[in-house]
Amino acid sequence: MNPQDLIRKKRDGGKLLPEEISAFVRGVSNNTWADYQISALVMAMFINGLNLSEQNALTKAMLNSGEVFNFSELDAPIADKHSTGGVGDKTSLLIAPIVAACGIAVPMISGRGLGHTGGTLDKLESIPGYNVNLSKEEFKKVIKKCGFAMMGQTAEIVPADKKIYALRDATATIESIPLIVASIMSKKMAEGLDALVLDVKTGTGAFMQRESDARKLAKALVKTGNAFDVKTEALLTDMNQPLGKYVGNAFEVFECVKLLQGETDKQSQSTLDLSIELAARMLILCGVAKTIQSSKFKVQSVLESGEALEKFRENIEAQDGDSRICDKPELLLNKSLLEVKIKSPESGYISEIDASEIGKAISAIGGGRLKVDDKIDTAVGFACEKKLGEKVKEHEPLGTLFCRTETQAAKVLAKLQMAYKVSVEKPVRKFELIKEVI
Ligand code: URA
Repeated sequence: MNPQDLIRKKRDGGKLLPEEISAFVRGVSNNTWADYQISALVMAMFINGLNLSEQNALTKAMLNSGEVFNFSELDAPIADKHSTGGVGDKTSLLIAPIVAACGIAVPMISGRGLGHTGGTLDKLESIPGYNVNLSKEEFKKVIKKCGFAMMGQTAEIVPADKKIYALRDATATIESIPLIVASIMSKKMAEGLDALVLDVKTGTGAFMQRESDARKLAKALVKTGNAFDVKTEALLTDMNQPLGKYVGNAFEVFECVKLLQGETDKQSQSTLDLSIELAARMLILCGVAKTIQSSKFKVQSVLESGEALEKFRENIEAQDGDSRICDKPELLLNKSLLEVKIKSPESGYISEIDASEIGKAISAIGGGRLKVDDKIDTAVGFACEKKLGEKVKEHEPLGTLFCRTETQAAKVLAKLQMAYKVSVEKPVRKFELIKEVI
């Protein structure tokens, strides 16, 4: 099948057959398609869309472009959680140990932060010594030992996505639901899962800001997951403010360890609530619990007994990290950072928070990446002191910036200030963490 014929067919609104889609992905993997041909077909897909059968065929072909894990020797259900990304989104660090403590194996392959959103691997690397670059054998060994392991994408897992994603990024074709579904689901299904819970975020700090778009994406992801016999559920969740208290890698791990220790700060409550909800849904999909109430009860019990914290400790040790942070999370924090308060210009109620501006400000001082190969500073961060709907007095802190220099502070102070809107009237709209279960 030659590339021009497939490009022409899709360009003219035709439906590609599964074998045509396989030929395309094979051409990407064996370098017989040129980058301009791949980009042309992807653009035709972007413009004319893919129906469900094409979306599933693309997912399958991409999945089969690399290695697929098989954990059948583990006598446990295999499950994972995937988030479409947000600001202060740290639930993986709680969910993996909680779910592992409930007897489910979690092979978590995560990403790094880019733009205004953070990434689990960067957060983990703020733990001294923690190694996210595991071989396939090491990954399996860690899961066998402590129920979960966390590592980065390897060159063997869905190699076709790496190439197609880079070309999509360069040709403005990221924002296509079927292309996003094939990219995310092929990588998740390569983990050899029985069940998958998706956290699809919507709002100012989300990748899909509009709720209707996020809902469409959630439905499409669930359809494809279930078509591949992976029990899949999605939660549509609010990203109109950072999740929990902290934004910034070391600070986010600190927040999670505190929660695993049973210490809940008012501003961290949303991190805990969302983690419990997502973990409980994983337990149900794996048949470990029947109802959401009994599942949440089980999740709470492994948190209260300290079993989840012990799982996290075992995992940190197995991945060469300094597990003393489980007893003393303050070891994660750099005490020499400057603390700069962002103060409210007036009295009133917090009516809007632009979470993406907070994420961008932290990236701008080194806490995130503007380009994929940027090095990051895991120490810097931001603490949210006020959240949506809360009352604030003139000059009261909205948040605290933790940075290294006055120059850094000057660079982002105005941006952080502008991320908050204060209104005299109490906002009518209630912040709704979980909008829908799909
Ligand atoms: N994340 C992915 O992994 N792939 C996409 O296409 C978009 C977001």
